[in-house]
Amino acid sequence: MAGLPLAAVAFQLCLLASSSSALRPATTASESGGGSRAGRTAYHFQPAKDWQNGPMYYNGMYHFFYQYNPHGALWDIGNLSWGHSVSGDLVNWAALHTALDPTSPFDANGCWSGSATILPGGTPAILYTGIDANGEQVQNVAFPRNPADPLLREWDKPSRNPVIPLPADVPGDKFRDPSTAWLGHDGLWRVAVSAEVRGVASTLVYRSADFLRWERATTAPLHASRAAGMVECPDLFPVLERGDNAGLDASASGDGVRHVLKLSVMDTLQDYYMVGRYDDAADAFVPAEPERGDDVRAWRRLDYGHVYASKTFFDERHGRRVLWAWANESDSQADDVAKGWSGVQTFPRKLWLDEDGKQLRQWPVEEIETLRRKLVGLRRGTVLSAGGMNEIVGVAGSQADVEVEFKVPSLAGAEALDPNWLLDPQKLCGEKGASVPGGVGPFGLVVMASGDLREHTAVFFRVFRHHGRYRLLMCTDLTRSTTRAGVYKPPYGGFVDFDIDEHESINLRTLIDHSVVESFGAEGRMCITARVYPEHAETSNSHLFVFNNGTGTVEVSKLEAWELAAATVNAVGDDGLVVSQSKDESQP
Ligand SMILES: *[C@@H]1O[C@H](CO)[C@@H](O)[C@H](O)[C@H]1NC(C)=O
Ligand SMILES: *[C@@H]1O[C@H](CO)[C@@H](O)[C@H](O)[C@H]1NC(C)=O
Ligand SMILES: *[C@@H]1O[C@H](CO)[C@@H](O)[C@H](O)[C@H]1NC(C)=O
Repeated sequence: MAGLPLAAVAFQLCLLASSSSALRPATTASESGGGSRAGRTAYHFQPAKDWQNGPMYYNGMYHFFYQYNPHGALWDIGNLSWGHSVSGDLVNWAALHTALDPTSPFDANGCWSGSATILPGGTPAILYTGIDANGEQVQNVAFPRNPADPLLREWDKPSRNPVIPLPADVPGDKFRDPSTAWLGHDGLWRVAVSAEVRGVASTLVYRSADFLRWERATTAPLHASRAAGMVECPDLFPVLERGDNAGLDASASGDGVRHVLKLSVMDTLQDYYMVGRYDDAADAFVPAEPERGDDVRAWRRLDYGHVYASKTFFDERHGRRVLWAWANESDSQADDVAKGWSGVQTFPRKLWLDEDGKQLRQWPVEEIETLRRKLVGLRRGTVLSAGGMNEIVGVAGSQADVEVEFKVPSLAGAEALDPNWLLDPQKLCGEKGASVPGGVGPFGLVVMASGDLREHTAVFFRVFRHHGRYRLLMCTDLTRSTTRAGVYKPPYGGFVDFDIDEHESINLRTLIDHSVVESFGAEGRMCITARVYPEHAETSNSHLFVFNNGTGTVEVSKLEAWELAAATVNAVGDDGLVVSQSKDESQP
């Protein structure tokens, strides 16, 4: 790791004595100060400039490769390269030169998405989609020129590429996104690739003994459906069956192992997943919830907000599976050009299977704690009665990690659920927003709020009664997040698979980073990532509140609000260029 341009992180925790004075009634006017860099984040991954999304993997050091347009802030179909950044801790990142550029006949029109795989012996390999000189999608392989270089700066593309040419039954624009490869019991590698086969969106499996010669499995695809249209970025990975949060290598199988199939649906620009059993003899995936059907849009969602094209990897160092997802901008393309960048990654999340065997749990990786600077909390619980709203004071509201536990003493006042609402929880979040009084809830957090509250984003819960059971809705409502025009600001939300009746309390954690509001409900059973562009943040501080607009009382039984320091993320030099090491230094 020597010579890495990573900033050392100073661990300067300043623990404020916890006291209820961290909360104050929501009447105080705003203070001066603050100022932001027009929504640029402080601890979420983004390149210094330009457009991005992308995959990653681990090789003694964290490497993140991402779809990158070196020529501008917008997606530019013939000019995509693979950007490359490295990190020792998943928090601070240094940008290197691009790893792959569209310079060969088999990728002359772009190096699109793909994945990295660690081969036996520790050498990594990249499989990626190239848009070839004829404009057709093919799968290529690349290997590090010098595997001993810990930064893996240079990559060779063997001349036998494409290793998987376009099949005869797939159109040239619908064959892409090879997954991380895994080994079957027969010793052959497998990789999943998205393809539209005679009009049917399919997740094909290819097998190889040497990573160079690949053959399409003759069995049925891993998944196929006509309903949802083209899917992208397939990810098949093993998880432990019994709520154990340890991660597994991509090739793990056997007793106690389940698999997750994640697909990204172009039609909705959402990521969905299904837990199931994968059998490598037939390369078959048997869903644990067959009642959800083949239409991926009826599967569980990875995030109910604004993310797409997520990807997981096995982090061998910490024995966990980590997820990254791309959070697209929600302002206009003209705004992106003016900012000079677009797109961030969600904060890396540890991911595991819940005890119920059906839903995933996600939680920010613990390394986020290295950014924690200042804590405010509560010594004892605070009751929020109807209309209650208390400000959380003492931490910068635009760069924070906030965790709240809401104790719900009674569900007696829960509103009756109109069954139609079950079909469109997002619409329900819009119709029953934070300012519409309810029985049990809405209660939650108000973040990125201006002093006069004209701008604010509410993240909240609401409980409904349905057939003698309780249904818990979680929403992030962006409709009042900014007074600016031309910004996409929908309500987001869904029903949380969590028994509020049994638990009597509900936990909410929200990461706030200028334009990113990333929330985790019920200990990671539900995630909602949103992008916000409040105008007040340019000139003044953002405020943070807990609130309850339900008639039933709730108690804030726990509150921890941390102010976070800025991480070093692909710093921009004075000349506006990405700080990276010169290519010449990398020669062995
Ligand atoms: C790629 O970028 C170059 C330089 O900005 C531009 O001239 C070219 O038109 C772009 N190619 C495509 C296919 O968009
Ligand atoms: C990015 O987000 C905007 C909404 O702001 C949406 O219209 C657009 O389709 C998204 N693009 C992708 C590729 O997700
Ligand atoms: C709570 O309800 C009141 C009255 O409708 C409203 O003024 C306030 O904005 C609501 N709080 C939130 C966070 O929406």
